[in-house]
Amino acid sequence: MKYNKLCILGLGYIGLPYAAMFAARGVKVHGVDINPHVVETLKAGKIHIYEPGLQAMVESAVQSGNLTVSSSPEEADAFIIAVPTPFQHEKFGEYNGMRFKLADMRAVTSAAEAILPVLRKGNLVILESTSPPQTTGRLVAPILARSHLEAGKDFYLCYSPERVLPGQILRELVENARVIGGITPESARAGRDLYTAFVKGEIHETDATTAEMVKLMENTTRDVNIAIANEFARLAEKFGVDAWEAIRLANLHPRINILSPGPGVGGHCISVDPWFFVEAAPEHAQLIYHARQVNDAQPGFVVKKIKQTTGELKNKKIAALGLAYKPDVDDLRESPAIEVVRLLQQAGALVKCWEPFAPTAQLAGVEMASDFESAVKDADAILLLVKHTEFVTLDPTELAKKTNARVLIDCVNAWNLNDWQSAGFALYRLGDAKSPISNL
Ligand SMILES: NC(=O)c1ccc[n+]([C@@H]2O[C@H](COP(=O)([O-])OP(=O)(O)OC[C@H]3O[C@@H](n4cnc5c(N)ncnc54)[C@H](O)[C@@H]3O)[C@@H](O)[C@H]2O)c1
Repeated sequence: MKYNKLCILGLGYIGLPYAAMFAARGVKVHGVDINPHVVETLKAGKIHIYEPGLQAMVESAVQSGNLTVSSSPEEADAFIIAVPTPFQHEKFGEYNGMRFKLADMRAVTSAAEAILPVLRKGNLVILESTSPPQTTGRLVAPILARSHLEAGKDFYLCYSPERVLPGQILRELVENARVIGGITPESARAGRDLYTAFVKGEIHETDATTAEMVKLMENTTRDVNIAIANEFARLAEKFGVDAWEAIRLANLHPRINILSPGPGVGGHCISVDPWFFVEAAPEHAQLIYHARQVNDAQPGFVVKKIKQTTGELKNKKIAALGLAYKPDVDDLRESPAIEVVRLLQQAGALVKCWEPFAPTAQLAGVEMASDFESAVKDADAILLLVKHTEFVTLDPTELAKKTNARVLIDCVNAWNLNDWQSAGFALYRLGDAKSPISNL
């Protein structure tokens, strides 16, 4: 099947790279976003997110005329829905004493509704947003049925999860293996035909609910594994052990691969998606639920350790380095680093933050420094929350000249104890009961 024109709804970290990628392969792409700022920025050939290599691709896609952008869908051969699927912040579910977060599917619902007027016989619709099990069949298909066309009979309908790593999206879109779940086998085949325009990784066809579950299983597995690493860090502190050393040694076992502890789990994927399982079937998601509890409690644990390390937090000046949810990206969504900052503020600390990938970010009640130097200059302590490369490679002697602080708190195992001690710093490392300062 040949796709000459594509309509992509949601032009964020996922939808925009797709739009640029298809446009670069000569496909006419119409991108849709409800955010006027996104539409205007893209129309000018600029981008509103940080992703290496994307700016140049979008610019040439817009200039070539292969990429157009607006706030409403146009007729096309295929539609990709890549809109957000966060959790709700106001409402919670309850089951047998479990209190859990609920998926907010409003963007998927309204994107599917927006397609209705332009949906035609023979079209292909692909949902890429990470979604609770059975969303394609039970939420999207009934909405699209209002067009009087039937999914799987009159048009093809698929779910295809996204696995790309922010910072590496353009490479991974091409190289990663893909799973395409069709509402019918013919739908999955139609989906495969679309992605073969540029995907070099293996493409596996399955049914839509399996594909939905695959994505949730991937992220839930990471969440549970990080939760156990975080518990190991707490246990190590209790038993006078350096968790990082213990994990390294345990990982010498050929069948063990323990992940790294940290200040918590964030982003709009790993900290969100496991809740979709819990909401859909709490009776079968006990472990998943408890792992979420552990990871959500980790910022609180970190703040407790900071207090033990630096003493009373009231009026303590703390420079917080990194607010993103992971290294070398600008994405602040659900970031545990921000939660740590807020908890420190609640305890009376005066926190100044520096996030090199989002220096102008505005977060209610959070003080952002204008540059690295002004963040650290007058600090009593420096708190490292994200393993951005530029923080890992900081020179201890140089930093010593820029700050009054002589206490460092490393939550991500970025810094070598000896190097920093030689430069006159005392360093506490999360999960390391042997780092000298934790014995104070
Ligand atoms: N970013 C990732 O690394 C990643 C990885 C795998 C899966 N996902 C999933 O992909 C989906 C999209 O994530 P993202 O990171 O691209 O989100 P994003 O927030 O970066 O972008 C989504 C865009 O959709 C727009 N939007 C919202 N409602 C819309 C609507 N009704 N019609 C058109 N546009 C609309 C928003 O304005 C926004 O620009 C989510 O379900 C996410 O969980 C993301």
